[in-house]
Amino acid sequence: MTIWWIILIRGGIVTAVLYESPTIGIIGLGHFGKSLAEGIVNNTYSKVWATNRHPVEWEDDKMEKWGKGFKLCDTNQELLSECPIIIIAVRPQDMAKVLTDIKDYDGLLISFAAGLPHSYYQSHVKGATVIRAMSNLGVAYGKGMTAWVGSEDIDSETRWMVQSLFSDLGNALEVELKNETHIDVVTALSGSGIAYLAHIFDTMKSVGVSQGMSEMDAELTVLETVSGVLAIFDNTEL
Ligand SMILES: NC(=O)c1ccc[n+]([C@@H]2O[C@H](COP(=O)([O-])OP(=O)(O)OC[C@H]3O[C@@H](n4cnc5c(N)ncnc54)[C@H](OP(=O)(O)O)[C@@H]3O)[C@@H](O)[C@H]2O)c1
Repeated sequence: MTIWWIILIRGGIVTAVLYESPTIGIIGLGHFGKSLAEGIVNNTYSKVWATNRHPVEWEDDKMEKWGKGFKLCDTNQELLSECPIIIIAVRPQDMAKVLTDIKDYDGLLISFAAGLPHSYYQSHVKGATVIRAMSNLGVAYGKGMTAWVGSEDIDSETRWMVQSLFSDLGNALEVELKNETHIDVVTALSGSGIAYLAHIFDTMKSVGVSQGMSEMDAELTVLETVSGVLAIFDNTEL
Protein backbone atom coordinates (compact mmCIF):
# COMPACT_ATOMS: atom_id res chain seq x y z
CA MET A 1 0.00 0.00 0.00
CA THR A 2 1.32 3.46 -0.84
CA ILE A 3 0.43 6.50 1.23
CA TRP A 4 0.44 10.03 -0.18
CA TRP A 5 -0.09 13.53 1.13
CA ILE A 6 -2.23 15.56 -1.22
CA ILE A 7 -2.66 19.30 -1.03
CA LEU A 8 -6.19 20.67 -1.55
CA ILE A 9 -7.11 24.32 -1.86
CA ARG A 10 -10.69 25.12 -0.80
CA GLY A 11 -11.85 28.71 -0.63
CA GLY A 12 -8.27 29.94 -0.37
CA ILE A 13 -7.45 27.53 2.51
CA VAL A 14 -4.68 25.02 1.86
CA THR A 15 -5.26 21.58 3.42
CA ALA A 16 -2.99 18.51 3.37
CA VAL A 17 -4.88 15.20 3.22
CA LEU A 18 -3.47 11.71 3.77
CA TYR A 19 -4.28 9.48 0.82
CA GLU A 20 -3.60 5.77 0.44
CA SER A 21 -3.79 3.91 -2.87
CA PRO A 22 -7.11 2.10 -2.71
CA THR A 23 -7.86 -1.44 -3.80
CA ILE A 24 -10.02 -1.06 -6.91
CA GLY A 25 -12.80 -3.53 -7.66
CA ILE A 26 -13.65 -4.28 -11.30
CA ILE A 27 -16.94 -5.98 -12.14
CA GLY A 28 -16.78 -7.49 -15.63
CA LEU A 29 -13.53 -8.81 -17.07
CA GLY A 30 -14.42 -8.64 -20.75
CA HIS A 31 -12.54 -6.69 -23.40
CA PHE A 32 -12.62 -3.43 -21.52
CA GLY A 33 -12.45 -4.76 -17.93
CA LYS A 34 -9.29 -6.75 -18.71
CA SER A 35 -7.70 -3.68 -20.30
CA LEU A 36 -8.56 -1.65 -17.22
CA ALA A 37 -7.17 -4.31 -14.88
CA GLU A 38 -3.92 -4.42 -16.85
CA GLY A 39 -3.64 -0.64 -16.91
CA ILE A 40 -4.30 -0.25 -13.19
CA VAL A 41 -1.92 -3.02 -12.10
CA ASN A 42 0.88 -1.77 -14.36
CA ASN A 43 0.42 2.01 -14.12
CA THR A 44 -0.84 2.76 -10.60
CA TYR A 45 -0.07 1.75 -7.01
CA SER A 46 -3.55 0.26 -6.55
CA LYS A 47 -4.37 -3.42 -6.37
CA VAL A 48 -7.28 -4.85 -8.37
CA TRP A 49 -9.92 -7.26 -7.15
CA ALA A 50 -12.20 -8.40 -9.94
CA THR A 51 -15.18 -10.58 -10.78
CA ASN A 52 -16.66 -11.96 -13.95
CA ARG A 53 -20.00 -13.70 -14.48
CA HIS A 54 -18.53 -16.83 -16.08
CA PRO A 55 -15.00 -18.20 -15.65
CA VAL A 56 -12.54 -15.87 -17.35
CA GLU A 57 -10.65 -16.94 -20.43
CA TRP A 58 -7.24 -15.35 -20.19
CA GLU A 59 -5.01 -15.45 -23.25
CA ASP A 60 -1.72 -15.68 -21.39
CA ASP A 61 -0.21 -15.74 -17.94
CA LYS A 62 -1.05 -12.10 -17.17
CA MET A 63 -2.92 -12.79 -13.96
CA GLU A 64 0.00 -14.82 -12.63
CA LYS A 65 2.47 -12.13 -13.67
CA TRP A 66 0.51 -9.52 -11.75
CA GLY A 67 0.93 -11.61 -8.58
CA LYS A 68 -0.40 -9.92 -5.44
CA GLY A 69 -1.54 -6.90 -7.44
CA PHE A 70 -4.55 -8.82 -8.73
CA LYS A 71 -7.17 -11.11 -7.23
CA LEU A 72 -10.04 -12.82 -9.00
CA CYS A 73 -13.07 -13.04 -6.66
CA ASP A 74 -16.09 -15.32 -6.87
CA THR A 75 -18.89 -12.84 -6.19
CA ASN A 76 -19.56 -9.13 -6.59
CA GLN A 77 -20.41 -9.04 -2.87
CA GLU A 78 -16.78 -9.86 -2.05
CA LEU A 79 -15.66 -6.54 -3.49
CA LEU A 80 -17.91 -4.44 -1.29
CA SER A 81 -15.93 -4.58 1.94
CA GLU A 82 -12.43 -4.35 0.43
CA CYS A 83 -12.83 -1.83 -2.37
CA PRO A 84 -13.52 1.87 -1.73
CA ILE A 85 -13.68 2.22 -5.53
CA ILE A 86 -15.67 -0.16 -7.73
CA ILE A 87 -15.55 0.09 -11.52
CA ILE A 88 -18.35 -1.52 -13.49
CA ALA A 89 -17.30 -2.77 -16.95
CA VAL A 90 -20.35 -4.80 -17.98
CA ARG A 91 -22.57 -4.16 -20.98
CA PRO A 92 -25.52 -1.80 -20.37
CA GLN A 93 -28.05 -4.66 -20.54
CA ASP A 94 -26.27 -6.39 -17.61
CA MET A 95 -26.09 -3.29 -15.44
CA ALA A 96 -29.37 -3.69 -13.52
CA LYS A 97 -28.34 -7.12 -12.18
CA VAL A 98 -24.94 -5.79 -11.03
CA LEU A 99 -26.50 -2.79 -9.31
CA THR A 100 -28.93 -5.11 -7.50
CA ASP A 101 -25.95 -7.14 -6.24
CA ILE A 102 -24.24 -4.05 -4.86
CA LYS A 103 -27.26 -1.92 -3.93
CA ASP A 104 -25.93 -1.25 -0.40
CA TYR A 105 -22.51 -0.09 -1.59
CA ASP A 106 -21.62 3.35 -0.29
CA GLY A 107 -18.18 3.93 -1.84
CA LEU A 108 -17.16 5.40 -5.16
CA LEU A 109 -18.83 3.71 -8.12
CA ILE A 110 -17.44 4.29 -11.61
CA SER A 111 -19.45 3.03 -14.54
CA PHE A 112 -18.15 2.78 -18.09
CA ALA A 113 -21.45 1.62 -19.58
CA ALA A 114 -22.28 3.42 -22.80
CA GLY A 115 -25.53 5.36 -22.92
CA LEU A 116 -26.69 5.06 -19.29
CA PRO A 117 -27.08 8.55 -17.77
CA HIS A 118 -26.40 9.58 -14.16
CA SER A 119 -30.13 9.59 -13.42
CA TYR A 120 -30.23 5.82 -14.11
CA TYR A 121 -27.87 5.06 -11.21
CA GLN A 122 -29.67 7.29 -8.69
CA SER A 123 -32.67 4.99 -8.54
CA HIS A 124 -30.50 1.84 -8.13
CA VAL A 125 -27.68 2.75 -5.75
CA LYS A 126 -28.57 5.40 -3.23
CA GLY A 127 -25.48 5.48 -1.00
CA ALA A 128 -22.68 5.50 -3.57
CA THR A 129 -21.00 8.45 -5.22
CA VAL A 130 -21.40 7.76 -8.92
CA ILE A 131 -19.01 8.64 -11.73
CA ARG A 132 -20.00 8.03 -15.33
CA ALA A 133 -16.99 7.56 -17.60
CA MET A 134 -15.96 6.56 -21.10
CA SER A 135 -12.55 5.56 -22.37
CA ASN A 136 -10.91 3.09 -24.74
CA LEU A 137 -8.74 -0.03 -24.77
CA GLY A 138 -5.59 2.13 -24.68
CA VAL A 139 -5.99 2.17 -20.86
CA ALA A 140 -4.19 -1.20 -20.83
CA TYR A 141 -0.96 0.58 -21.82
CA GLY A 142 -1.47 3.86 -19.98
CA LYS A 143 -2.70 5.44 -23.24
CA GLY A 144 -6.46 5.64 -22.72
CA MET A 145 -8.47 8.80 -23.34
CA THR A 146 -11.04 8.99 -20.56
CA ALA A 147 -13.82 11.53 -20.13
CA TRP A 148 -15.80 11.46 -16.90
CA VAL A 149 -18.66 13.23 -15.19
CA GLY A 150 -19.35 13.21 -11.45
CA SER A 151 -22.63 13.50 -9.58
CA GLU A 152 -23.69 16.88 -8.17
CA ASP A 153 -22.41 16.10 -4.67
CA ILE A 154 -18.84 15.11 -5.65
CA ASP A 155 -16.26 16.66 -3.30
CA SER A 156 -12.83 18.00 -4.27
CA GLU A 157 -10.94 15.05 -2.77
CA THR A 158 -12.93 12.55 -4.86
CA ARG A 159 -12.59 14.76 -7.92
CA TRP A 160 -8.81 14.78 -7.45
CA MET A 161 -8.69 11.01 -6.92
CA VAL A 162 -10.75 10.24 -10.06
CA GLN A 163 -8.78 12.65 -12.24
CA SER A 164 -5.49 11.15 -10.94
CA LEU A 165 -6.61 7.58 -11.54
CA PHE A 166 -7.66 8.27 -15.12
CA SER A 167 -4.54 10.36 -15.76
CA ASP A 168 -2.43 7.37 -14.68
CA LEU A 169 -4.27 5.37 -17.37
CA GLY A 170 -3.59 7.93 -20.10
CA ASN A 171 -5.31 11.28 -20.41
CA ALA A 172 -8.37 12.44 -18.49
CA LEU A 173 -11.05 15.03 -19.11
CA GLU A 174 -13.65 16.07 -16.54
CA VAL A 175 -17.02 17.00 -18.04
CA GLU A 176 -19.51 19.17 -16.16
CA LEU A 177 -22.80 17.51 -15.26
CA LYS A 178 -24.74 20.02 -17.37
CA ASN A 179 -22.74 18.74 -20.37
CA GLU A 180 -23.25 15.05 -19.60
CA THR A 181 -24.19 14.32 -23.22
CA HIS A 182 -20.52 14.99 -24.12
CA ILE A 183 -19.85 11.51 -22.69
CA ASP A 184 -21.94 10.09 -25.55
CA VAL A 185 -19.81 12.03 -28.01
CA VAL A 186 -16.67 10.65 -26.35
CA THR A 187 -18.16 7.15 -26.73
CA ALA A 188 -18.00 7.69 -30.49
CA LEU A 189 -14.64 9.49 -30.55
CA SER A 190 -12.66 7.58 -27.91
CA GLY A 191 -14.61 4.39 -27.08
CA SER A 192 -15.18 3.41 -30.71
CA GLY A 193 -12.35 5.51 -32.16
CA ILE A 194 -9.76 2.76 -31.77
CA ALA A 195 -11.85 0.38 -33.88
CA TYR A 196 -12.26 2.98 -36.67
CA LEU A 197 -8.56 3.74 -36.79
CA ALA A 198 -7.57 0.07 -36.52
CA HIS A 199 -9.79 -0.58 -39.54
CA ILE A 200 -8.09 2.19 -41.53
CA PHE A 201 -4.59 0.98 -40.56
CA ASP A 202 -5.52 -2.57 -41.47
CA THR A 203 -6.85 -1.45 -44.86
CA MET A 204 -3.66 0.54 -45.54
CA LYS A 205 -1.54 -2.47 -44.59
CA SER A 206 -3.62 -4.73 -46.89
CA VAL A 207 -2.95 -2.37 -49.79
CA GLY A 208 0.80 -2.72 -49.17
CA VAL A 209 0.56 -6.50 -48.97
CA SER A 210 -1.63 -6.67 -52.10
CA GLN A 211 1.12 -4.78 -53.96
CA GLY A 212 3.70 -7.38 -52.98
CA MET A 213 5.13 -6.00 -49.70
CA SER A 214 5.72 -8.40 -46.82
CA GLU A 215 3.28 -8.15 -43.88
CA MET A 216 6.12 -6.91 -41.70
CA ASP A 217 7.24 -4.18 -44.11
CA ALA A 218 3.67 -3.04 -44.77
CA GLU A 219 2.93 -2.90 -41.02
CA LEU A 220 6.11 -0.97 -40.27
CA THR A 221 5.30 1.52 -43.04
CA VAL A 222 1.76 2.11 -41.74
CA LEU A 223 2.70 2.36 -38.07
CA GLU A 224 5.58 4.76 -38.71
CA THR A 225 3.28 6.88 -40.89
CA VAL A 226 0.79 7.02 -38.03
CA SER A 227 3.55 7.91 -35.62
CA GLY A 228 4.62 10.70 -37.99
CA VAL A 229 1.06 12.05 -38.14
CA LEU A 230 0.88 12.16 -34.34
CA ALA A 231 4.22 13.99 -34.17
CA ILE A 232 3.01 16.54 -36.74
CA PHE A 233 -0.30 17.03 -34.86
CA ASP A 234 1.60 17.41 -31.58
CA ASN A 235 3.70 20.19 -33.03
CA THR A 236 1.13 21.97 -35.17
CA GLU A 237 -1.99 23.95 -34.31
CA LEU A 238 -4.99 22.21 -35.86
N1 LIG B 1 -14.80 -2.57 -25.51
C1 LIG B 1 -14.44 -1.30 -25.50
O1 LIG B 1 -13.60 -0.85 -26.29
C2 LIG B 1 -15.05 -0.36 -24.48
C3 LIG B 1 -14.50 0.92 -24.33
C4 LIG B 1 -15.05 1.76 -23.36
C5 LIG B 1 -16.12 1.36 -22.61
N2 LIG B 1 -16.66 0.13 -22.80
C6 LIG B 1 -17.80 -0.24 -21.97
O2 LIG B 1 -17.41 -1.32 -21.15
C7 LIG B 1 -18.52 -2.19 -20.96
C8 LIG B 1 -18.08 -3.60 -21.30
O3 LIG B 1 -17.74 -3.67 -22.68
P1 LIG B 1 -16.86 -4.88 -23.24
O4 LIG B 1 -16.57 -4.56 -24.63
O5 LIG B 1 -15.74 -5.16 -22.30
O6 LIG B 1 -17.95 -6.06 -23.17
P2 LIG B 1 -17.68 -7.61 -22.93
O7 LIG B 1 -16.40 -8.00 -23.59
O8 LIG B 1 -18.93 -8.33 -23.27
O9 LIG B 1 -17.43 -7.71 -21.36
C9 LIG B 1 -18.45 -7.59 -20.40
C10 LIG B 1 -18.10 -8.53 -19.28
O10 LIG B 1 -19.00 -8.32 -18.20
C11 LIG B 1 -19.23 -9.59 -17.59
N3 LIG B 1 -20.45 -9.56 -16.78
C12 LIG B 1 -21.73 -9.44 -17.18
N4 LIG B 1 -22.57 -9.46 -16.13
C13 LIG B 1 -21.78 -9.59 -15.03
C14 LIG B 1 -22.06 -9.69 -13.64
N5 LIG B 1 -23.31 -9.66 -13.16
N6 LIG B 1 -21.01 -9.80 -12.77
C15 LIG B 1 -19.73 -9.86 -13.23
N7 LIG B 1 -19.41 -9.79 -14.55
C16 LIG B 1 -20.43 -9.66 -15.44
C17 LIG B 1 -19.34 -10.53 -18.77
O11 LIG B 1 -19.14 -11.84 -18.33
P3 LIG B 1 -19.40 -13.12 -19.28
O12 LIG B 1 -18.02 -13.53 -19.73
O13 LIG B 1 -19.99 -14.10 -18.36
O14 LIG B 1 -20.31 -12.70 -20.39
C18 LIG B 1 -18.22 -10.00 -19.68
O15 LIG B 1 -16.98 -10.64 -19.45
C19 LIG B 1 -19.66 -1.70 -21.84
O16 LIG B 1 -20.63 -1.07 -21.04
C20 LIG B 1 -19.01 -0.72 -22.79
O17 LIG B 1 -19.86 0.36 -23.09
C21 LIG B 1 -16.14 -0.75 -23.71
